[in-house]
Amino acid sequence: PNGAFKFYIAGQWKESDSGSTVDIINPFTLQKQYKIQACTPEEVNKCVDQAKAAQKLWAKVPLWKRAEYLHSFAKILRTNKDPIAKCLTNEVGKCLKDAIVEVERSADLVSYAAEEGIRILSVGRFCMPDCFPGNGRNKFCLASKIPLGVVLAIPPFNYPVNLAVSKISPALVAGNSVVLKPPTQGAVSCLHMMHCMHAAGFPKGLLCAVTGKGSEIGDLLTTHPKVNCISFTGGDTGIAICKRAGMIPIQMELGGKDVCLVLEDADLELAATHIIKGGFSYSGQRCTAVKCICVMEKVADALVKKIVDKMAKLTVGFPDANCDITPVISTVSAEFIEGLAMDAREKGARFHQEWKREGNLIWPLLIDNVTTNMRIAWEEPFGPIIPIIRIKTPQEGIDHCNASKLALQGCIFTKNIDNAILMSDAMESGTIQINAAPARGPDHFPFQGLRESGIGSQGITNTINLMTKTKSTVINFQ
Ligand code: G3P
Repeated sequence: PNGAFKFYIAGQWKESDSGSTVDIINPFTLQKQYKIQACTPEEVNKCVDQAKAAQKLWAKVPLWKRAEYLHSFAKILRTNKDPIAKCLTNEVGKCLKDAIVEVERSADLVSYAAEEGIRILSVGRFCMPDCFPGNGRNKFCLASKIPLGVVLAIPPFNYPVNLAVSKISPALVAGNSVVLKPPTQGAVSCLHMMHCMHAAGFPKGLLCAVTGKGSEIGDLLTTHPKVNCISFTGGDTGIAICKRAGMIPIQMELGGKDVCLVLEDADLELAATHIIKGGFSYSGQRCTAVKCICVMEKVADALVKKIVDKMAKLTVGFPDANCDITPVISTVSAEFIEGLAMDAREKGARFHQEWKREGNLIWPLLIDNVTTNMRIAWEEPFGPIIPIIRIKTPQEGIDHCNASKLALQGCIFTKNIDNAILMSDAMESGTIQINAAPARGPDHFPFQGLRESGIGSQGITNTINLMTKTKSTVINFQ
């Protein structure tokens, strides 16, 4: 045995024939934490072939029974939340309490998907022809939703379990099979989750988890002729995947530069509280994190004071100790974040705290007086640093939001709801939150990005719809 976690194929756990493994580095200790199999192209092909064959049978399993498998999976997942959460802290540096929430939220998502699948898929459409010019009542159309086939699910490191199940459970309830390619950091948590699915007794071959280097098996998976749908969350690799993928439905979530607009009549205490939670939870490593504050000059100092006071209370350190700020995912990421901060400082931005970094651990930083020639005004740090742009008119904030290539979410703080709705309409972003920080959940809400933030809309309901297609039977009377 090569001492690495096995991958999952045909209902079994196996070592790869490659004999190679990939190391997973603990973001806090910077030591090797786990090893996973580096699967070969042949193993990938075998997984996809099996998924293709198993899907044909799975689509014939009654809907109520498919839902029952998912409920059973949700139950097992919940029972195993502690060991999975421990893995999450070890390999992605998420603090333990948030890691537990991730697993609990995932179990809720799976159960909801089972129920929503029944609601959506139990109903078809019946169409009469005589409403269309030239037609009589000589035929009926019966339309229902059928599965696509094999769904390739590629979750990111920041929610390896939750964003895996957000793809897997809608796929399965709709009668698809699933090939899961976990992120390298997050893979062991994903494999534990897959073990819960194994324990739930899903048919052999219906599910698989292939691990390894994206550079070796990524292209094969994303251009595989037997893959019928890709659901990907991650960085701009997604753009390359889109360009190469065939004529199949694709769901992509590729990050955000979520603007937080604070107007003069805002409840500043509320805004500051949401900025802290929205900007610093999981150390800012969320696509929906507050990534740029645009505040009206008149209230900027008052808002900054509130944010700085709250930032001083954030704890920084070890994920197991439930610190608010934990190490970012990798040294490459830490260096990128540092580069953004230094670029801003060189160009005249004001730091409200000392710059401090130890390994991958970066102390939270509020960067004020940011101008549009600074990289931080446009780039996504994915770390615990937030830029502030002081604006003279609300329109400046709207323009900044609309000029960004990333457009996942945004938020507006104001007491004037009419104005907020008009501004939401003017902000060209996938979701605008009024008087709260950006967030994906609840997980059945539509979740989508505009421009380079993604393709398609997620959320449980939309994902089930995306992972099915309409099939019609037309009965022609003689
Ligand atoms: O970064 C992934 C994105 O889906 C964020 O989710 O729940 O933190 O808003 P959430």
